[in-house]
Amino acid sequence: MHPEAKKILVREEDINSRVKELGDLISRDYRDTDGLLVVGILKGAVIFMADLVRQLTIPVKLDFMAVSSYGKASESSGVVRILKDLEHNIQGKHLLIVEDIVDTGLTLKYLKENLETRGPASLKICTLLDKPARRKVNVEVNYNGFIIGDEFVVGYGLDYNERYRNEKSIFILKPEVYAS
Ligand code: IMP
Repeated sequence: MHPEAKKILVREEDINSRVKELGDLISRDYRDTDGLLVVGILKGAVIFMADLVRQLTIPVKLDFMAVSSYGKASESSGVVRILKDLEHNIQGKHLLIVEDIVDTGLTLKYLKENLETRGPASLKICTLLDKPARRKVNVEVNYNGFIIGDEFVVGYGLDYNERYRNEKSIFILKPEVYAS
């Protein structure tokens, strides 16, 4: 266990087997299409996305978006700033947004509405983690890895102050980490 971890929430083996299951499910759902444009939300989704797309057996293209909230005000307004936009024209394409975690839901709600205006053939959402207790707006998640409680987690792409993204498991930090 990482020396700064208080408790492991999802073990490496459990992540790997769930990512494989999700890959099988998604491959099945899109097998009759001409393929999928997978959109990863930087930076948290990168690790999950890299593992997930290698489980897909359908033709896949990758793209990325980076977003940031407008400070505290965004918590209520849901306004999200696009820091990096897609390189692909998504009109008529099947899109899968890959996100690390749905918390309040504000980020995904904004992204979904924004991307829908560009006329994709379909748009679905895949998240590694879901924290339903914290939801402020309703957003439909089509594929989810694990449902977790109202706890701040790190690892497997998720960070605290940009650290722990490279950890293989998902865990809760010791309280003294936040104090320092
Ligand atoms: P939302 O707009 O509130 O759903 O925020 C989603 C974003 O908040 C995620 O993409 C993460 O970047 C961040 N986030 C929410 N909960 C956690 C957590 O427990 N650990 C790390 N990042 C989190």
